[in-house]
Amino acid sequence: MKDSATSARVREALLRRARAAMKCAYAPYSKFQVGAAVLLQDGRIFTGCNVENASYGLTICAERSAIFAAVAASARKPAIVAVAVVNRRAVPCSPCGACRQVIAEFGPGAMVWYLGGKGIVGRTMRELLVDGFVL
Ligand code: THU
Repeated sequence: MKDSATSARVREALLRRARAAMKCAYAPYSKFQVGAAVLLQDGRIFTGCNVENASYGLTICAERSAIFAAVAASARKPAIVAVAVVNRRAVPCSPCGACRQVIAEFGPGAMVWYLGGKGIVGRTMRELLVDGFVL
């Protein structure tokens, strides 16, 4: 199968899983429900949603919620190959800066799909996080 076809299949599967996870979002304050799905190198997919809190700063984004679920279920450091993010309002929404740094920790070369101004956009983490912090 061609790479482009594989990529389109993976993208659609991840977007579908992200949409399902979005339904579990706990976002009573912003009313902005977000879902994310991450594909690991070993083929496993983990999903997450945003979880808000009355103390707003404690909110966690859908992307980090998915990644932390992957870490909690992995004995070794998970390797992220792709991420998909969706939101219920269907407005442009790329991962926030904090989430980019966390995605880069586990997937410095990952592909990230999210809704842009003209539909789904695919960008690599190298494009999304230039000179990210490493230790
Ligand atoms: N949010 C995410 O979950 N992911 C993003 O990529 C952007 C923002 C959440 C955080 C908060 O619950 C709500 O969206 C509004 O900022």
